[in-house]
Amino acid sequence: LEPSHRSEAVAAGAERRWALIVVAIVGVLIAMMVFTGWHWAAMPPSRVETVDVRTLHTQGEFVEANLGTEVRPDGKIVVRLVAQQYSFQPQCIVVPVDTPVTFRGTSTDAIHGFVIGTTNANTMLVPGFVSTFTTSFRKTGESLMPCHEYCGTGHEAMWARVQVLS
Ligand code: CUA
Repeated sequence: LEPSHRSEAVAAGAERRWALIVVAIVGVLIAMMVFTGWHWAAMPPSRVETVDVRTLHTQGEFVEANLGTEVRPDGKIVVRLVAQQYSFQPQCIVVPVDTPVTFRGTSTDAIHGFVIGTTNANTMLVPGFVSTFTTSFRKTGESLMPCHEYCGTGHEAMWARVQVLS
């Protein structure tokens, strides 16, 4: 080849290499967008604390002995509960009046939820995720705590009681 043709071939080769690099970069960016979009779409909004449904009953925070009301060493009050078709565990929850209470709950099977009487205590319970909120009860007395997400044929019989004590 003449010198001018040789340098054209070198330039064409370099262009091809750079074109491939650009295609690779665009491909990586698209893959990142698809992955993060799918990843976050699979999460319930505002809640990313997870729990393994398969080991829920045998280890960790939600074993039976940990369910119900706990007064932590620092004085904070935590209520842990588990929902399953078609009951809550525990069936009766006792909490103090005018004190912040943190609820931590999850489900073993379907999506459940609960609301406590006419208070603003209200959440969904989703398998694989821990739902939490903190609230204070202003009145003493007993309230019903029904499941408020349709979860199957026993849904309307699924409820617990909450007792607020002074
Ligand atoms: Cu559980 Cu409806």
